[in-house]
Amino acid sequence: MSAVSGTVVVTGASSGIGRALARAWARRGSTLVLSGRDQVSLARVAREVEGDGGKAVVIAADVTREEDRKRLIEGALARTGRLDVLVNNAGRGYYGSAAGIDLGELEALFALNVFAPLRLVQLGLDALTRSGGTIVMLSSVAGVVAAPRMGAYAASKFALEALSMALRAELVGAGVRVVVVRPGPVATRFRENSISREGRAGVRPPGARVQTAEEVAAQTVRAVDARRAVVETTAFARAASATARMAPGAMRWISAVMAARARS
Ligand SMILES: NC(=O)c1ccc[n+]([C@@H]2O[C@H](COP(=O)([O-])OP(=O)(O)OC[C@H]3O[C@@H](n4cnc5c(N)ncnc54)[C@H](OP(=O)(O)O)[C@@H]3O)[C@@H](O)[C@H]2O)c1
Repeated sequence: MSAVSGTVVVTGASSGIGRALARAWARRGSTLVLSGRDQVSLARVAREVEGDGGKAVVIAADVTREEDRKRLIEGALARTGRLDVLVNNAGRGYYGSAAGIDLGELEALFALNVFAPLRLVQLGLDALTRSGGTIVMLSSVAGVVAAPRMGAYAASKFALEALSMALRAELVGAGVRVVVVRPGPVATRFRENSISREGRAGVRPPGARVQTAEEVAAQTVRAVDARRAVVETTAFARAASATARMAPGAMRWISAVMAARARS
C-alpha cells in the first residue's frame, strides 16, 4: 500500500466531509485545490490546510456551471501542473416522498450530484491518465438502498454509482482508479443544507451510527492508498448494503416500517 499524494482537487471543500478530506491529505503534504461556492469558508479551510502541512490553492466554483468546471480543472493544472486525485464530494440531499418530487428540483439535484462529477471526470481525464490518478466519488448508503423520503437523493446516488462502475471498468487500461465511498449518516450540515419537502427531513434508519467527517476522511484516504474500489464506512452501511442485495425481502419490510414512522 503506497501513500497517494500530489495534487488533490476537492469539490465541496468549504465544509463537512470535503473540508475533512482536504485536511487529511494536507497532513501528508499534498497540494490541495479547494473548491466550493463559499469563498469565506474556503479561505478558512485554506489556512487550516497550510497549518496541517499542505499547500492550498483556492478556486471558487459552482460545479453545476460548465464555465466554473472548466476554470476549476484548467486552474488546478495551471497552478499545480498535475492532477493526482479528483474528489467529487460536493453534493446535496433531498428529503421528500417520491410521489411529491418536484421535477425542477430533481433536475437541479442531478446537476449537482450526477452531472457535475461526471463532467469533472471528463475534463480531468487526460491529466488523471498522465498521473495514473484516482477519482473519488462520494456516494452514500443511499447509492444502494432507496429509503422512504429519500427517493430523489437515492436516485442521484444510484446514478453516480452506475457511472462510477462503468468508469472503473473503462479506465483500467488508462491506469486511472475509481473509488466509491458509501457513508451512512455523518455529522455535517448535510441535513440542514438538504431540500426538505412536506416540512420535514427523512427518518433516521434504525441502528445507524453517526460518524464524524474526520472518520470518513481517514477511511477515504486509506481506501485510495489501498486501491480499493468501494469503501462502506460503518457496520450499518455494510449491513444495509448486504441486506439490500442478499435479503431484499427483509429490506422491503424495514423500509415499510420506516415509511410508517415517517407518516406518524
Ligand atoms: N452527511 C451525511 O450524512 C452524508 C452521508 C452520505 C454521503 N454524504 C455525501 O457526502 C458529500 C458531502 O456532504 P457533507 O455531509 O459534507 O455536506 P455539507 O456539509 O452540506 O457539504 C456540502 C458541500 O458541497 C458544496 N456544494 C454544494 N453545492 C455546490 C455547488 N453548486 N457547487 C460547488 N459546491 C457545492 C458545499 O460548498 P458551498 O456551499 O461552499 O458551495 C459544501 O462544501 C455529499 O456528496 C453527500 O451526498 C453525506
